[in-house]
Amino acid sequence: MRGKLIVCDGSNGAGKSTVLKHLKEHLDANKIEYISTREPGGTEIGEKIRDILLDNSNSEMCSTTELMLFAAARAQHIHEKIIPALEKGIHVISDRFESATVSFQQYGRGLPKEIVDQLNDLALGDFRPDMTIVLDLEPLVGLERVKSRGEGLDRMENVDIAFLERARQGYLEQAKEFPNRFTVIDALQPLESVVRDAISTLDKIIN
Ligand code: TMP
Repeated sequence: MRGKLIVCDGSNGAGKSTVLKHLKEHLDANKIEYISTREPGGTEIGEKIRDILLDNSNSEMCSTTELMLFAAARAQHIHEKIIPALEKGIHVISDRFESATVSFQQYGRGLPKEIVDQLNDLALGDFRPDMTIVLDLEPLVGLERVKSRGEGLDRMENVDIAFLERARQGYLEQAKEFPNRFTVIDALQPLESVVRDAISTLDKIIN
């Protein structure tokens, strides 16, 4: 049987890394074969593109360049890593995916929907994740959490709150438009509840 692609995405600081860690532990405990990956990145080429995208010294980058770089990393990712795994029956867990481009480049940066759709289609054809778990959080709370990690902000985090608020709306709109392949989890809930909801969503997809 073909593997499934499950994405964890959402607001910055919403607890993605922790949720992903628990999803992986759950799969390990149940001896289910999977690989985990991330966007932008996941391949050698994609990780180089990630460095360019997140580098604060690239402050001159225009939104169109940004969109094309995310799409370029995604095209490589799907071709080199994701499809081969799914075809072998291996599940793929990805930290962010095409939903982030709709949220950040379309809703956040204000790029036209048709262009963003075209770029996602160019990278993915008609392929889309089986499920995208969206961790939803008010941007101010998320940004405080990111800052409290003390790692500094990257180029995509060095943005104003209004941008992050638009991106958040982008996730909620996508979930409304595609209820069968998006699940929104309130990331303000206690972590145990967030993790429990994420695991039960994952189980429904892979079982
Ligand atoms: P991460 O560090 O949470 O993995 O995400 C990298 C940053 O890139 C994050 O701020 C969200 C942003 N991003 C986009 O703007 N568009 C995209 O398509 C992806 C995958 C990420």
